Amino acid sequence: MAEQFVGKASEFKDGARQIVRMGSDEIGIFKHEGEYFAYSNYCLHQGGPACEGLTIARVFEKLRDDKTSVGLFFSETDMNFVCPWHGYEYDMKTGECISDRKIKLKRYQILQKGDEVYVVA
Ligand code: FES
Repeated sequence: MAEQFVGKASEFKDGARQIVRMGSDEIGIFKHEGEYFAYSNYCLHQGGPACEGLTIARVFEKLRDDKTSVGLFFSETDMNFVCPWHGYEYDMKTGECISDRKIKLKRYQILQKGDEVYVVA
């Protein structure tokens, strides 16, 4: 296992991301609510830069007991990121594809040593 320096934790602001290259791999590292998440930057659809698009709160539909819709709402806890090529959406905390949770991006481990953040591959 190799470690790749990502950046200083003190400069990695919440909501920010970094893209690093390790050999032939490209990895996207997100900081969300103080936690780091690292995934392959190769989209499961057609290999686009999955980690380089928008980040957006998960949208969900509230239903009444009779299953009619109350409307669409943004989650206050769940964040997704969206591949900029064709819009595949991934769960920030798991890397799962929102439209098909059986598939997910490869996840990488993050190490923090003092103020330094590393990704392990
Ligand atoms: S390559 Fe990512 S959505 Fe198509």
